[in-house]
Amino acid sequence: MTTDAPAPQPTWTPAWDRAEGEERARALFAATFESPPDGVRSAPGRVNLIGEHTDYNGGLALPIALPHRTYAAVARRDDDLVRLVSAQEPSGVREVRLADAVPGAVTGWPAYVVGVAWALREAGHAVGGFDVAIDSCVPFGAGLSSSAALEAAVAVALDALFGLGLAGTVVDGAADDDAGRAALADLCVRAENEMAGAPTGGMDQAASLRARAGHALLLDCRDGAVRHVPFDLAAHDLALLVVDTRAPHSHVDGEYAQRRAACERAATLLGAPDLREVAQDADLRARADAALADQPDGEVLVRRVRHVVTEIDRVTAFVGRLEDGDVRGVGPLMDASHASLRDDYEVSCRELDVAVAAAREAGALGARMTGGGFGGSAVALVPAERLDAVAGAVAAAFDAAGLRAPAFAVAVAAPPAG
Ligand code: GLA
Repeated sequence: MTTDAPAPQPTWTPAWDRAEGEERARALFAATFESPPDGVRSAPGRVNLIGEHTDYNGGLALPIALPHRTYAAVARRDDDLVRLVSAQEPSGVREVRLADAVPGAVTGWPAYVVGVAWALREAGHAVGGFDVAIDSCVPFGAGLSSSAALEAAVAVALDALFGLGLAGTVVDGAADDDAGRAALADLCVRAENEMAGAPTGGMDQAASLRARAGHALLLDCRDGAVRHVPFDLAAHDLALLVVDTRAPHSHVDGEYAQRRAACERAATLLGAPDLREVAQDADLRARADAALADQPDGEVLVRRVRHVVTEIDRVTAFVGRLEDGDVRGVGPLMDASHASLRDDYEVSCRELDVAVAAAREAGALGARMTGGGFGGSAVALVPAERLDAVAGAVAAAFDAAGLRAPAFAVAVAAPPAG
């Protein structure tokens, strides 16, 4: 006789409301530095709806900002010292002199904070020392861009603290100075690439700084142009379930850099400035496979390129369906994106595949990994009344596969940094 173990209950990761997040950062600041901060700013994590590993190829991506945010309480100093503390880091207060803050000199999480100050100074902005206390409800290492949320929160906090005038204001979930925010996003990317040493593209920082509540951000990564596409799932009785697989992942490691390098090499071999060009030039696209086939790793390059060019097509199709009101019709595009990332781009993993398959079997209209991959999170488009059932089915599938219990969140398109 067997006894049935009780079904595992899904664990949810709720977003804090803004007042709570601000109060936490303020309290940490006051307890650490024994004075109140000058102000608190915050910035969201993101999920990408579609358009994965396209940003560094000059392609299209379609992220939304999450309601989960990172909060930065800051105060100005009159020297060049940065003192940092984070509720998520047990290491206590860290101190860095801006004069010493050069690429390679700052390690760990302070690189993301100090890196933003460094990038602003490199761009000629008058940024001096400051104290900062960080608290966050963006799950760390979950592929939801906790690092971009940290950079963007610090960027808008320093913008206010030093009167840089780049971030503008956010009214009704929309920022009023997109050009200034695009400049801040570029500086956050510099911080991440050069100070933190992670060779990521620009999607995450753009999502955190330039997204709009109730909309997905159609990002053209070639020229930085954006379009805000209405994205209100509740109006269609749908919801976006985020499955944090809790499988470890890191972009600083070599796989991400290898994918990026393969794409750049393929573009060079094809005589194109980037793979976006291949996606939109029918002639180039038609001869790409043959042109790459005689490389020693030709078969791999063909698949990498195929992922990128078909993924760019899928972003366009996804936006088209949203704009036609066919929101359910985006499901098959999500499925196709996942298959392409798994088979052609090879950035999925067992946990992500289990999450996607279990969500689909339990009634999701489409599901895919989101973010860089190799762990992190998946997203599933589900009928609103099936949210708990799909989460329960995914939790049960993880349990049955002997995997660590995942965590769940609900994604709605939330306001940008501010
Ligand atoms: C990570 C990077 C982004 C992007 C995605 C994949 O999230 O930070 O720049 O390349 O992976 O789409």
